[in-house]
Amino acid sequence: MTDKCPYQTTTAGNPISDNQNSLTAGERGPVLLQDYQLIEKLAHQNRERIPERVVHAKGWGAHGTFTVTHDISKYTKAKIFSEVGKQTPILSRFSTVAGEAGAADNERDVRGFSVKFYTEEGNWDLVGNNTPVFFIRDPQKFPDFIHTQKRHPRTNLRSNTAMWDYWSLSPESLHQVTILMSDRGCPTTPMNMNGYGSHTFSFINADNERFWVKFHFKTRQGHTFYTNEQAAEKIGQTREGYQEALFGGIENGNFPQWEVKVQVMPESDVGKTWYNPFDLTKVWPHGDYPLIDVGVMELNRNADNYFAEIENAAFSPSNIIPGVGFSPDKVLQARLFSYADAHRYRLGTHYESLPINQPKCPVHHYHKDGAMNYHGPKTGNADAYYEPNSVSGAAKEAPSFAEPPLKLSGDADRYNHRDGNDDYRQVKDLFDLFDDGQKQRLFNNIADAMEGVPAEIIERQMVHFGRVDAAYEAGVREAIAAK
Ligand code: HEM
Repeated sequence: MTDKCPYQTTTAGNPISDNQNSLTAGERGPVLLQDYQLIEKLAHQNRERIPERVVHAKGWGAHGTFTVTHDISKYTKAKIFSEVGKQTPILSRFSTVAGEAGAADNERDVRGFSVKFYTEEGNWDLVGNNTPVFFIRDPQKFPDFIHTQKRHPRTNLRSNTAMWDYWSLSPESLHQVTILMSDRGCPTTPMNMNGYGSHTFSFINADNERFWVKFHFKTRQGHTFYTNEQAAEKIGQTREGYQEALFGGIENGNFPQWEVKVQVMPESDVGKTWYNPFDLTKVWPHGDYPLIDVGVMELNRNADNYFAEIENAAFSPSNIIPGVGFSPDKVLQARLFSYADAHRYRLGTHYESLPINQPKCPVHHYHKDGAMNYHGPKTGNADAYYEPNSVSGAAKEAPSFAEPPLKLSGDADRYNHRDGNDDYRQVKDLFDLFDDGQKQRLFNNIADAMEGVPAEIIERQMVHFGRVDAAYEAGVREAIAAK
């Protein structure tokens, strides 16, 4: 087979003699059923769309490399970090959360920041955001939260009322809401924002010691943002601002870079901080856990086919490598189920067989048959289609990859995740970092987002702003009054 195609064919490779005129009974006659070529064309067109991602449907991505610049092998045995200078191919996809696949790029929203590292020990996916925290700390709350971000069932419009109704009843959202309504909620391009793994993960070193870790991607392009007015103007000019900036930049040889850093917490520090280190609504103060340099991520190659390489990409927090592990973060735990399940629905059972998702290392599993199982048994031996087996050369489990045991305690129960939790202290720390201009834009953005929201919901939310700082509440009230 050659890529140089001398003539057009059907999907079965049968040559096509005429791609302009249907096969008809007489010059003006009806089309014959035996025009399979026409049937195939129409049938394929009907199947061109696949379900869009239930969240983060609008996205932009590119290929690149991750290069290690500093030795962190005392924290992790992951081979990706084994030596300074080591390079690993990556795929990155950025996204907005709420908009559909055709949404305008420059809308105010949290941005997804996904990276797939194609390591020699399998794919490692960090599926983060451009924010270090999230709206919820219990996964029970995720589907309802997303309903408030999507369209109202009757009006089919986004609903400010639903958003603030939910947020005002969920004070743990305030940290993320404050970031979303700040300058960071509307970056000008994907290159001008940071990325965060957001959750706490774990590192395991060669001595089988565990550390807790948070991942940071610091943009080297600088942070730039649009105000709501500037974003509206930009969207008026183009709905594809991010795609144009990212694709166009890389096409022109401008390769964006991020410095990859980690915060590391000794396993035994759990219980010593005033916050729960596995609470996704909290950051670890850098004063307590400083950033440690790790490497540089660069994007340097555009996809040749957006659908095959970006839309078909399946990022999942469950894709993990030896030396990097999960944590008890409840939201992370739910995501470990949710993403691969979404991929089986959105892309098909053996979605990892799609070229963009294929690990760049041997794969040996015993899953059998099913849609998209192109390659037959992955064990390298057709006789080994079950396990355990005594087939010579068949893949076997490798106990050397076992993680050290993690001590857990407590009664099984539904614990109120708000009991004894301070949802305001870190928001106050953030608010205090804003200069006057940043504060005013925060107030204005909130006032814009509260348009049409009933007074009792606004008042409920004001209580939360006031608990952070009287100036936060007063500023929002003034911005609403000034509208
Ligand atoms: C996409 C579920 C929380 C970041 C998705 C998708 C699902 C999902 C089902 C679509 C996956 C696909 O079709 O490929 C959930 C659930 C969550 C949760 C159940 C909480 C219980 C989060 C958090 C973050 C996040 C906390 C960031 C820290 C993303 C990103 C994508 C995504 C970046 C897009 C991935 C891509 O680029 O393909 N989420 N999510 N999600 N989620 Fe979440």
